[in-house]
Amino acid sequence: MKKYVTLTLLMTLLSISIADARVKVTGRGAKMNFSADGISDMYKPSLTLMQAKCIKCHTMERTVIAIQTGRAPITGQPFNKQAVKAYGIKMLRKPNSDMNKKEIRDIVVLLNYFLDENAK
Ligand code: HEC
Repeated sequence: MKKYVTLTLLMTLLSISIADARVKVTGRGAKMNFSADGISDMYKPSLTLMQAKCIKCHTMERTVIAIQTGRAPITGQPFNKQAVKAYGIKMLRKPNSDMNKKEIRDIVVLLNYFLDENAK
C-alpha cells in the first residue's frame, strides 16, 4: 500500500513539474518543436525565423531540450543567457549557416525570453 502512495505522489510531482514548464512544446523526438501557443505576439516572427533557420543541420529537438533542461544536449554545458549568446555566434559562424547577424540577434532574444518564461 505504502508503495502505491509513494508512486502516486511521485507521479503527481512529476506531472506538476512538467505542467510548470512554461514554454509549450509540440511533438516528440525529432519532431519536437516550440509551440507558438501562448507566446507573446512580438516574438512570433522570431519563432518562425528560428523554425526555418535552425533546422538546417539538426532538428529543433536540440534547442527545445536545451531550453527545457537548461543544458546543451551535446556537450552538457549549462544553457543560460550567456550560453545562448555564445551558441548564437557559434551557429552563425558555422559554414553554410545561411544566417546573418540580425537574424541571430532576434533568435538570441527569443531564446532568452524562453529561458525567462521557464524560470517563472
Ligand atoms: C550550419 C549548421 C547549423 C546550423 C544552421 C545550426 N546549428 Fe546548431 N549545431 C550544429 C552542430 C554541428 C552542432 C553540434 C555541436 C557543435 O558543433 O556545437 C550543433 C549543436 C547545437 C546545440 C547543442 C549544443 C551543445 O553544446 O550541446 C544547440 C542548442 C543548437 N545547435 C542550437 C542551434 C540554434 C538555436 C540554431 C539557429 C540559430 C542552430 N543551432 C543552427 C550545426 C548547426
